[in-house]
Amino acid sequence: MNLQLWRLILTVECIFVCIYSQTLPKRRCAFKVTAQNNKYTTAGKVNESVQVCENTQCCVSYYVVINGQPKVDVLACDIVEKSCPDATCKAETRFNGRLIKCVCNTDLCNRNISWTTGSEQLQLTYSNSKDEVLEATVIILPGLFLILFFMCVAVKSKRLILEPKHNLLSCPVDDNVQPLCSCQTTGTAEIEIDDIKLQQILHRGHFATVWQGEYQGSIVAVKVFPAEWKHIFTAEKEVYELPLMKHAGIVNFLGTGKEPDCSSWLIVLQLAEYGSLHSYLCKHTTNWTLSLKFCQSLSEGLSFLHSDLHKYDVHKPSVAHRHLSSSNVLVRADDSCVLCDFGCSTILRSCSGQWLSPMTSVEGHTQMGTLRYMSPEILEGSVNLSSSSCLMQGDIYSLGLLLWEIWMRCSDLFEGGIVPPHLLPYESELGADPMLKDLLQFVFQMQKRPSIPEHWALLPQGSALQELLTDCWDWDPDARLTTQCVLERLASLQPCYSP
Ligand SMILES: *[C@@H]1O[C@H](CO)[C@@H](O)[C@H](O)[C@H]1NC(C)=O
Ligand SMILES: *[C@@H]1O[C@H](CO)[C@@H](O)[C@H](O)[C@H]1NC(C)=O
Ligand SMILES: *[C@@H]1O[C@H](CO)[C@@H](O)[C@H](O)[C@H]1NC(C)=O
Ligand SMILES: *[C@@H]1O[C@H](CO)[C@@H](O)[C@H](O)[C@H]1NC(C)=O
Repeated sequence: MNLQLWRLILTVECIFVCIYSQTLPKRRCAFKVTAQNNKYTTAGKVNESVQVCENTQCCVSYYVVINGQPKVDVLACDIVEKSCPDATCKAETRFNGRLIKCVCNTDLCNRNISWTTGSEQLQLTYSNSKDEVLEATVIILPGLFLILFFMCVAVKSKRLILEPKHNLLSCPVDDNVQPLCSCQTTGTAEIEIDDIKLQQILHRGHFATVWQGEYQGSIVAVKVFPAEWKHIFTAEKEVYELPLMKHAGIVNFLGTGKEPDCSSWLIVLQLAEYGSLHSYLCKHTTNWTLSLKFCQSLSEGLSFLHSDLHKYDVHKPSVAHRHLSSSNVLVRADDSCVLCDFGCSTILRSCSGQWLSPMTSVEGHTQMGTLRYMSPEILEGSVNLSSSSCLMQGDIYSLGLLLWEIWMRCSDLFEGGIVPPHLLPYESELGADPMLKDLLQFVFQMQKRPSIPEHWALLPQGSALQELLTDCWDWDPDARLTTQCVLERLASLQPCYSP
């Protein structure tokens, strides 16, 4: 086709788009939000309980289930353009049924939601003004407009491809992921259980109990999984046994073992002398040099985990941690941080075109109390969990929270060295055990983040820290830094603190 013809087609399409955008009524959605400053209030003009959508054709609704009773949390227009193929509100339940969500594309469709729980079919209608329901009947377009509509959809989807930023919440699969299929592992020898002496319990986790023990004359950490969590053991073992997995930023793996009757499964690791980063920060404050070392070693570990390496004919695929928290980072005697707890990680390698992931849904996470480290898009559930870049962007968000935790205990960043007690991210705002509903509202809907002390803006390196943190926990996953960029930013900070 020649250029002129293309121009003509484009012009005609443009005219159609103009007519379309002027004549197609804007989507109207039932509106209710439970918090002020909710992000959804900006999605369109609100008149009583109806919102006229500014940017999208999609209505959303969120219900949180409290004591088995669904309670409306948000009814509104969607904030960004996403696909919403359903005309009616088909419920999608998440977090073991604690959250119900739907997206639909007809006027006021978010008012009625139906879902099945086990055998029951439930129907819920939200109404606080009666007149609007009548108006909810689908607007029938004359034939001409239907044709225009389809042409415009075509133009719109073209635009979306050209400007992926507009489609914030859909993450395309990374095309650069190595197509190589490499499923070999280094296969460490099994440790005889009789060679391990368990001494004392260090930590009781959800899936495993961590013991201090003795193995071949050294003090080690032994993670003991009961048989019911064998799949978590297997997933974690698989990560440790990947080729080239030895790194200063990853806890040193010594081997695995099992009880002869298979009642428990063991992972033997080098003991990190100072325990978890969380317990370290609770007990100690840091200075600038030490906190920078923590941040650097932590970021180096994550950078290594995310890396896709080929060396000596072996391949270490990228791994997304997916469960980063200050409890899953350990501090060694040389003041470096190491990563551990890979039971929920995803190995991003491709065998016959399929991602191998030990856990493909986030449901498992909810039981572990790490909801607070989950990125807004993972909380909300709109990411494609099969996409490697999405999972790594989720890790970067968590890394940002960890850097914040470390610097919030750095005496050089507080006047007179008076450092506030250690707090987990969102602990001061949402308490020690935040509910999913509150996190979703605070982090996703209101786009809040841990607060950065105002006086940091006046400190010599304060604004650089502030920028680094906000670029890690950006609402837009595509705008977040990569681990490589985090390392470069950290390297550009002065190693010594001089006020
Ligand atoms: C809001 O809706 C009512 C009736 O539903 C209408 O009379 C009124 O003009 C609307 N207000 C605005 C600002 O659109
Ligand atoms: C919602 O459900 C109610 C009761 O089931 C029904 O009367 C009403 O027409 C429905 N409204 C829409 C917009 O589907
Ligand atoms: C910072 O803290 C570390 C570890 O506690 C200590 O060894 C070092 O001397 C401190 N540096 C300064 C400048 O105070
Ligand atoms: C998610 O990505 C995978 C991998 O490319 C793809 O096969 C799948 O269809 C995607 N799912 C959704 C819901 O987009």
